Amino acid sequence: MRKSLLLSALFLHIIIRTGLSVEGMWIPLLIEKFNIKDMQEKGCRLAAEDIYSINKACLADAVILFGRGCTGEVISPDGLVLTNHHCGYSRIQAHSTLEKDYLNEGFWAFTRSEELPNPGLTASFLIRIEDVTQMVLQGTDSIAGRIEKEKHIDRSIDQLIKITTDRTGYNAEIKPFYFGKEYYMFVYQTFRDIRLVGAPPASIGKFGGDTDNWIWPRHTGDFSLFRIYADSTNSPADYSPSNIPYKPGNHLKISIKGIRENDFTMILGYPARTNEYLTSHELKIISNSTLPRKIELRNAILDIMKNAMDRNPEIKLKYASKYAGMANAWKKWIGVLQGFERYNTIRKKETFEEQFRLWLNRNPDNQEKYAYLLPEFSKTYSELEPYYFVNDYASEAIFHVELIEYVSGFTSLLSLMSENQEEEPESTINKLKSRTENFFKNYEVEIDKEIFIKVLELYSANVGQQFLPDFYHTIHQKFRGNYRKFADRIYKKSFFTDKEQIMELLDHYSNASVRKIISDPLFRIYSSFGEVYRNKIFPQYDKLTEQLDDLYPEYLAALMLMQPDKLFYPDANFTMRMTYGKAEGYSPADAVEYRYNTTLKGIIEKEDPEVYDYVVPEKLKNLYEEKDFGRYGANGKMPVCFIASNHTSGGNSGSPVLDADGYLVGLNFDRNWEGTMNDFMYDPDICRNISLDIRYVLFIIEKYAGADHIIGELTIID
Ligand code: ARG
Ligand code: GLU
Repeated sequence: MRKSLLLSALFLHIIIRTGLSVEGMWIPLLIEKFNIKDMQEKGCRLAAEDIYSINKACLADAVILFGRGCTGEVISPDGLVLTNHHCGYSRIQAHSTLEKDYLNEGFWAFTRSEELPNPGLTASFLIRIEDVTQMVLQGTDSIAGRIEKEKHIDRSIDQLIKITTDRTGYNAEIKPFYFGKEYYMFVYQTFRDIRLVGAPPASIGKFGGDTDNWIWPRHTGDFSLFRIYADSTNSPADYSPSNIPYKPGNHLKISIKGIRENDFTMILGYPARTNEYLTSHELKIISNSTLPRKIELRNAILDIMKNAMDRNPEIKLKYASKYAGMANAWKKWIGVLQGFERYNTIRKKETFEEQFRLWLNRNPDNQEKYAYLLPEFSKTYSELEPYYFVNDYASEAIFHVELIEYVSGFTSLLSLMSENQEEEPESTINKLKSRTENFFKNYEVEIDKEIFIKVLELYSANVGQQFLPDFYHTIHQKFRGNYRKFADRIYKKSFFTDKEQIMELLDHYSNASVRKIISDPLFRIYSSFGEVYRNKIFPQYDKLTEQLDDLYPEYLAALMLMQPDKLFYPDANFTMRMTYGKAEGYSPADAVEYRYNTTLKGIIEKEDPEVYDYVVPEKLKNLYEEKDFGRYGANGKMPVCFIASNHTSGGNSGSPVLDADGYLVGLNFDRNWEGTMNDFMYDPDICRNISLDIRYVLFIIEKYAGADHIIGELTIID
């Protein structure tokens, strides 16, 4: 009796531990069909159409694509937007100077007229999703050639988008799902006047800095506030002082009841890219060559930047955003490699592939149809490997030389003159002018030259001889292998280091300018990399990856036959997805258990006035000591962050974390390091998303910043 009780208790534990975690990023349109039943069983009290619907106001209405890579949500009837501090970071930096240092001091607009415009920043609302598979694929069966087929698909997509968006003021995109088995159209309304409303100081918004990035336990107050502005008809418009706050169809209501362990959680947002169905062959290439070499390269570049930043506060400010962006992916990759190793990701894939083989063996029909797949993958990948590596590594290397990245923009000018295109040269020139302004604002030629040297060295050390551009001969013959001398020469001779000369050229653009550009030494370096790419990399790379493009849909079809009870979710492709799970801790190592939440106490424990990442503002310390948490504290503590088992990825930053009733309880901003391999293989025991507790956000706005007028705009349930 005792024994069986104990046993069932054990089982229960296992069920509770893993039973609620759900792998997958789901298409909002299909929640009713695929997910809602399971969600409700796990505690969700919403109907599918509360989450996504075209007929009534729903949660998805309040979720936006923020800028080019983040998510945000509307939290007031006056178009107030909540997103991450790191999503607003480059904008906050752009408004900062050494005198008005919003990045380090924080920024709060106390009236609407103080809210700061951000040229180029957009916010897109999802108007609707449509399954357009049939329309896109119609007629493709009878087309034999792959290129013809693709052209046909592209034409159908263009037409559908045109019909949908013409004269509507909307924009739309159609993307393939499940390796092209299905296509969905996403229609958006995009706003262009987005203003900065508030941001905590870096010592709150980036507390823990790059040291704590990707790490649990976490104490980063990673949020910022923006507002969407519209014209007098509530429609998108370019920035104008006469624009008024946008009145959204719906905004999220906030619950400050608090999130408890095992509570149901749900996220809506824009994850950018996952690769859950890759075979072990590609994972091996990634883990043996591309990631380690890319990490090595970024190690070197980050060192160069950091040295310069530590020596000069002005450079530190200028390079803050670039550095954070570089360090972010670099550190994630290290986590991915460690995760692969630690959780035997590749072995698990291989074992799974072995099961697939066994399953095929059991049925001659399947055998006949699909047995070619794995051997074909193996063959294709082994041919592809050198090209796969150089394709990935070259762009990573070359475009981290900032000047090369910048001059690549000038190819648009060249084609403009040569092809006598109809497009207004003026618009291209204006774009380049503003690109030039932005580029030089945050550019230090000496740092870039050091990076250039390092990149050339590492590129030649890591890629095969056949992929070296011609100028390496010059380095070896004329400069006796001295990269520094070569770099000195190039940077001295290139006019692209001189903003005045570039502006002059853009002001008086002529055929002579074309000659000047193409004979520029830096532009020639860029072009010779381009030549290698066009002649030595692309043809093979393209041919072999096309073979893979044929294999993967068949492979997925076979897997679906093999696992008829499993729900397959499409890889993330930067369209809106819904993911759900629950608030829960995890065990990062034997005998270690992490709790699901952190509190302000942890910030005080981490404090170190000597270390930039761990400086705590005086005012925050006082609030802590006086336990002045207002209505946001719980049991004498101030909650800060929590983790949950929602399947997220890059792009989910700024996503709303919602409770069982659809109230906003958190703001997603990160994943745990041990779990970053979830882009390739999700493990419900280890993978966690990291969110800010909404109560900490409100506490900082009200108690720290004293911005009560912002609190007054919100709909808060307590
Ligand atoms: N790791 C988070 C994300 O992937 C946050 C990055 C920003 N923070 C930083 N310290 N760089 O984007
Ligand atoms: N910080 C990430 C982002 O910018 C979200 C964390 C992740 O990659 O999951 O999207």
